[in-house]
Amino acid sequence: SADQELIRESWQKVGDSPLEHGVVLFTRLFDLDPDLLPLFKYNCKKFSTPQECLSSPEFLEHIRKVMLVIDAAVTHLDNLHCLEDYLANLGRKHQAVGVKVESFEAVGDSLLYMLEKCHGPAFKMNVREAWIKLYSTVVKAMSCGWNV
Ligand code: HEM
Repeated sequence: SADQELIRESWQKVGDSPLEHGVVLFTRLFDLDPDLLPLFKYNCKKFSTPQECLSSPEFLEHIRKVMLVIDAAVTHLDNLHCLEDYLANLGRKHQAVGVKVESFEAVGDSLLYMLEKCHGPAFKMNVREAWIKLYSTVVKAMSCGWNV
């Protein structure tokens, strides 16, 4: 569909340097919701600042993982239902580390922010709306993992 084409086109530029764009996304996320920072702890150690978190190899790995999940959604636009079990399980893992479903709203805003930074004026309303639809499908699938 036209929406799928818009998504694929706009993801291409992001996918060329996923880590860099993922850092923009998570920098924004910690601005919007600093309370998410303590959920990231590796070897039981919490970060004292977003900068410290954003420069840790383990966290950068998480960024890569996030970008891979979005990439998988973009690759499977035609049959997102084949990711449903995977995403529900991913949701369950996030519940286990203390993430609330509501926090995925700020993640969505940060995703749009990153896409906007990446594309500038080329990020038109119709592209934005296509992403909002895709992201809400992913969050809906992940939310099946809460309270199960
Ligand atoms: C794993 C937190 C959003 C994908 C994790 C882990 C934590 C975490 C603490 C375990 C440690 C690690 O693997 O680094 C969060 C928080 C988020 C968030 C606080 C925002 C509120 C996302 C999003 C995605 C995602 C939006 C993808 C759409 C993953 C993946 C893993 C993971 C793929 C690895 C799961 C596995 O081990 O099988 N997350 N995450 N995360 N996260 Fe997130």
